Order: sequence, then C-alpha cells, then structure tokens
Amino acid sequence: MAEIEFDYSNAEEFMPPQEFAAFLQKAEAAKAELLGRQGKGNDFLGWIDLPEDYNKEEFARIKKAAEKIRSHSQVLLVIGIGGSYLGARAAIEFLSNAFANALPAEKRNAPEIYFVGNNISGTYLSQLVEVLGDRDFSINVISKSGTTTEPAIAFRIFRAIAEKKYGKEKAAEHIFATTDKAKGALKSLAGREGYETFVVPDDIGGRFSVLTAVGLLPIAVAGIDIDALMQGARDEREELLSAEGEKNQALMYAAVRNLFLNRGKRVEVLANYEPQFHYVAEWWKQLYGESEGKEHKGLFPASIDLTTDLHSMGQYMQDGQRMMLETVVCIDQPLEEVTIEEDPEDLDGLNYLAGKTMDFVNKNAMKATILAHVEGGVPNLLIHVPGQDAHSLGALFYFFEFACGVSGYISGVNPFDQPGVESYKKNMFALLGKPGYEELRKEIEAKEAKG
Ligand code: PA5
Repeated sequence: MAEIEFDYSNAEEFMPPQEFAAFLQKAEAAKAELLGRQGKGNDFLGWIDLPEDYNKEEFARIKKAAEKIRSHSQVLLVIGIGGSYLGARAAIEFLSNAFANALPAEKRNAPEIYFVGNNISGTYLSQLVEVLGDRDFSINVISKSGTTTEPAIAFRIFRAIAEKKYGKEKAAEHIFATTDKAKGALKSLAGREGYETFVVPDDIGGRFSVLTAVGLLPIAVAGIDIDALMQGARDEREELLSAEGEKNQALMYAAVRNLFLNRGKRVEVLANYEPQFHYVAEWWKQLYGESEGKEHKGLFPASIDLTTDLHSMGQYMQDGQRMMLETVVCIDQPLEEVTIEEDPEDLDGLNYLAGKTMDFVNKNAMKATILAHVEGGVPNLLIHVPGQDAHSLGALFYFFEFACGVSGYISGVNPFDQPGVESYKKNMFALLGKPGYEELRKEIEAKEAKG
C-alpha cells in the first residue's frame, strides 16, 4: 500500500470524467518521458534514483560531522537560501519540538538551530548575533553556485565572528561547506581554509536537493533519523516507479491539478492543520513555483496554516474569486494527544467536548472546512500522510518531487531550470556595482532617466 494517499473525492463533482481520463493519460506519458530521461532538463534528474543511489561514503561522513557539531556546539547556523535552505528547515521544523530552540539544552538534545542568509536584512542578522552571544557555534554554509549574494554576505559576517572567537585554524573545525564538487567561490574558499565540504550533485537542482547533504547535514544535527527519512523516500520511490494509472497517487495528483489549471483555476492553496508543517509548505511552494511557473503557465502555489488562517483567509477561501483549488495535507496520526477534560462549572460551555482529544476536534474542523469550501465552489484534494515522523516526511518529499516532475512535463515546461530567478540577480548585481555588470547598469540608468 502507498505511504502517501491521494484522495480527490471532494473534487470529482468539478471534474468531467472524460477530461480526467485524458489528463491521466497525459500523466502516464509524462511519467514515461521522465523515466526515459530524454525530456526537457534531463541533466537534472539525479533526484529520481537518489534514495537508492546516493553516496554512502558521504552519508556516513554527514553523520560523523553532525555528531561533531552536536558535541562541540551549542548553536548551529545554517546559511543558505531557496533550495539550499528550505528543505532542511522544513524537516527540522516538522520533526523537532515546535519550540525546540527555547527548550533547555538537555531536553532538546541538539544545538539550537538558526537559519540565516535567506534574506538581506541587517536587523535580522544583528539580532541573531545577539542571540548567539559568545556561545560555541558551528556554521553550515550551503550554496551550490557558491556565489549567491544573501548567503555570501551572511557567511562573511559569521566567518569573521568564528575566526575572532576561535582563531583562523580552529574556526575551520566549526565551518562545514556544502557546495559544488569543483567550482565556485565557496569551493575555493573552503579548499583554502580547510573546511570539511559536502557536495551538491551536478544533476540535482536546489529545490530537489533536500535528500542530499544540502538537507541531510543540518537535519542530522537536529537529531533527526536521516536513515528513516531516506527509507521513507526509498519506499515511496519504489511505489511511484511501479504503480500504474489510478493506482499511482502522484500521477493522479499531477493529472488532477493540471485538469483544474486547464479549467481556469489559477491558484493551488496547500492547507495544513499542523503548525509545524508550515515550512514543508514553504518548501512545496518553491518546488512547484520554480518548476512550473514558466512560459506564462502554472498554478500559483500558495499556502495556509489552519485553523489559524480560517480567521483571516477563511472568508476569501469561502466566497472570494473562484480561482483556486485547495490541497489539504492531513497528518493521519498526531504526534501527541491532548484530551479535553470535564469542568464541573462549564462556564465556557465546552463540556460537550469533554473526553474528546484535540485531534478529534482538529480533524472535525478539517472535515467541516472541506465541506464548506467544496460547497463554496473550491475543489478539494486531500493528501494523507501517515504521521509526523521522518519516514513519512521522506515519503512526502519524494511524492511531491515526483508529482512535480510529471506535472511540469504535462504542462510542457522544463520543470528543472529556473531562468526567471537569474533576472533579478543580474539587475541587483548591476545596481550594486558588481564588476562585469557595467553595461546592464547603464541600461537601467537610461531607463530610469526616461522615467
Ligand atoms: O532551486 C534553486 O535552484 C534555487 O532556489 C537555489 O537553490 C537558490 O537560488 C540558491 O542558490 P545557491 O545554492 O547556488 O546559493
């Protein structure tokens, strides 16, 4: 049986059966194209076999480095942006205590972990320097290109702090670089300074890299079982590579979302009922947004945290423009159960829930919301995840990656490049005066002068 279950019964009333059959056929053709490795972007398909075919020597080194960091550091700073950050954050926030950094060290049983280099805010950075104080820390700097501005600035600052605290030589024992195997500024710097390095494989793009060293090192430092994470992905891969037609849950998801795109939907809202899922949704948004948002195509991926956002976005979901479909991620088995107790006075009128668990209330809130949204004209897709554990998350990562590759091929784009991300980078370099961008700067200035 599939680990990740896809249920479209709450969308069927909006799906003409013949159209669905046609999209399922397209999904099967897209799967064949993906696995035939002859389609667009086929030099970036290393993620397909990754759960089986990964570098075992490096995997063992990741575990060793994680142990070293856990033993000598009270804080880990993870420096990276986009695909070099979101997967690790998704896993760590989903699988650790929701308040991990605030727990006493002996309960957390891992360093405090902070993410930096994912924005250009001096305020954020200096407040993190304050939180760090003079505690022992390590840095995992992650950048495939080794030249991305946001992480490069943060790394320059925290490297200087580490060198001041430990001295240049000892600082090298606290700095771990995950980057290209041969090229880029970070690779050269790491080589010169003697940092331990890990590799972002050539054939895996940032947003598909969570199960490489990019995600695995910080995830292992958090004390999460990376073997279970890989096993989950492995099990899901086996299922998705072999299951055919309606039995293949990822093909179904890819087919249904393309059907709705074709029927005029423009936004897919990923909804969750577990707050720790928030960053998994951020990871998902990058995966689908950067993979499919091309050639003026693609569903805009958005996300909501429920029931929190029912009190802010609920009105729009129910009754605003009918441009969206909703995909709910349901964590079948909650990590913790809290039972609501009887109160003899019942002043809050909640005794009708006495003896019930919060999960019972949460799941009924989910059912009620789905019913309301479907009634309001929002097709609802449901993705069942067995639990809030490493195996389930590994399976979910793989499920979404596989469905994304299939979905991109259905819509005819190259899901594995990101030409649009380069446009802002070039303009920013020109405006900041980076050598080599003088011509573009002149063009921008001329445009500005024209008004
Ligand atoms: O998915 C991607 O390719 C991007 O989001 C990159 O991961 C992001 O731009 C960071 O790039 P780099 O790892 O080269 O610093």
